[in-house]
Amino acid sequence: MKTYIVGNWKLNFTVGEASIYLHKLLKKMPNYRDVEVVVAPSTIALQPLSLQVDRHKMKLSAQDAFYRDYGAFTGETSFSQLRGIVDFCIVGHSERRYIFGENDKMVAKKVAAAIRHKITPILCIGETESERAFGETADVIRDQLIGGLSEVADDDFDNVIIAYEPVWAISSTKAAKLATPDEIAEVVELIRQTLADTYGAELAEKVPVLFGGSVNKANAGAYLTVPGVNGLLIGGASLILDEFVDILEVAKRVRQ
Ligand code: 13P
Repeated sequence: MKTYIVGNWKLNFTVGEASIYLHKLLKKMPNYRDVEVVVAPSTIALQPLSLQVDRHKMKLSAQDAFYRDYGAFTGETSFSQLRGIVDFCIVGHSERRYIFGENDKMVAKKVAAAIRHKITPILCIGETESERAFGETADVIRDQLIGGLSEVADDDFDNVIIAYEPVWAISSTKAAKLATPDEIAEVVELIRQTLADTYGAELAEKVPVLFGGSVNKANAGAYLTVPGVNGLLIGGASLILDEFVDILEVAKRVRQ
């Protein structure tokens, strides 16, 4: 399995800035054999960047999309519109869940719509600080995982990625703490166990599980060596070109 390094740019960069960043990144980075490099710009930048990106080197992801293909859904972009433009789409990010009110049912429909349009969903799950404090982490993780995957057929599990992002460790939230490797290992094991119990051991092993939450070049190596972690979903640090490139090099070294 490849190591996935995904940069989630969130609501940052104009189309012009995104294009310049991508140009510099493509120039700076080598072609990695075992590291799948992905960036997720704003929706408005995806189409122009899809013409600019070298898909042998890296791939594009959307940050979100709507599950219906067309119709009276003002403001939305559908997976059918993104088909051929992106290879991945982040689905169910905690900012979508807590700022925009997405629930597991909507997330499940989005995961299914992505797969229907040959786009790999990166399903984000993670507990809040208070859920952790009240001992609810395992329940939240299981609910979001099983809920989000509820419309995926067994045959489609080759095309699903899970990202564990504890909400309290995301740097854009107030008072973000760093997750420890042990805390991550425990939840990643729970994710694999839940997948194994629900879909069988073979299937559970082939789903990549990424970690996200205040990842930077200093902690990337430690996070990538947590048992069961297959990659990173990076917010703030992915906006800084040199830092992102350093993280790619860390990922390459960890693979060697
Ligand atoms: P930060 O890396 O800025 O904490 O963001 C994590 C995240 O939400 C990525 O999706």
